[in-house]
Amino acid sequence: MVNYKDLGLVNSRAMFAKAVSGGYAIPAFNFNNMEQLQAIVAACVETRSPVILQVSSGARKYANQTLLRYMAQGAVEYAKELGFALPIVLHLDHGDTFELCKSCIEYGFSSVMIDGSHHSYAKNVELTAQVVEYAHKYDVTVEGELGVLAGVEDDVKAEQHTYTQPDEVEDFVKKTGVDSLAISIGTSHGAFKFKPGQKPQIRLDILAEIEKRIPGFPIVLHGASSVPQDIVAEINRYGGQLKDSIGIPEDQLRAAAKSAVCKINIDSDGRLAMTAGIRKVLSEQPSEFDPRKYLGPAREKLKALYMHKVKEVLGSDGKA
Ligand code: G3H
Ligand code: 13P
Ligand code: ZN
Repeated sequence: MVNYKDLGLVNSRAMFAKAVSGGYAIPAFNFNNMEQLQAIVAACVETRSPVILQVSSGARKYANQTLLRYMAQGAVEYAKELGFALPIVLHLDHGDTFELCKSCIEYGFSSVMIDGSHHSYAKNVELTAQVVEYAHKYDVTVEGELGVLAGVEDDVKAEQHTYTQPDEVEDFVKKTGVDSLAISIGTSHGAFKFKPGQKPQIRLDILAEIEKRIPGFPIVLHGASSVPQDIVAEINRYGGQLKDSIGIPEDQLRAAAKSAVCKINIDSDGRLAMTAGIRKVLSEQPSEFDPRKYLGPAREKLKALYMHKVKEVLGSDGKA
């Protein structure tokens, strides 16, 4: 068992309190490999933004849990080398069982999500409360979820959004003791969030209703990639075949970040940026076979994307 404090990480409690009162949101960027991690840390050091490094169970399988743990520890040191002691949270994204959350806490995570949103309300409360009880013994913060995002989430496919019911949030927060709450207001995972012809619009009215029931309580938005059309076009220009990729307009996310939304999850946009960077090099220089020659430019593109998110969407620059 290793405690996150010994790794130089922090939990999300103070970060969220500051973000809610300051009208901005903390970036929660997923990572699976070294280049993604370097880009996140470099972007957040340069913009002086606090950051949440997110690891999904898929990332854990892909990269190995021990390596990821040491990479996060390395990120703390790497930030200092770049000239700034960045506050970093290591967070489990979409934990689906008590055992997974417990294992991550034992590996040094400072924050976990228990996503019981696919269960009945009663089962969600029970599972979330169980994780909170264990996590709080180690001062690890916990994110719960109410409402189901459309699309694929934790291998469960939902055709339609089940929006979070404002009537339930107060009871859920009280009964579970969670530190933050992910809600469903029309965002969804992946790069195909709306159908062509559909108006890309999230339900800021439901968010406002939720805020009324739990004023000042930290709210989380999943599925918040914007799917930048210039990046999609670049992927397609260099041989990709992405069709009808549509995300959440940035101005809507900016509006949400100014409210009690204090954590915004972005994964797909990073995947797109990296893919565009790699495709460009491989297409323009087909004889290139040194991974550093295409991963390096992709990493730069990723860093630029993250800096843009921090400054123009989340408003977390200068808040570290
Ligand atoms: O919410 C899902 C995240 O984008 C992580 O995706 O499970 O493919 O690693 P993943
Ligand atoms: P996107 O697929 O919109 O980037 O969402 C990521 C996410 O919610 C991770 O939990
Ligand atoms: Zn998510």
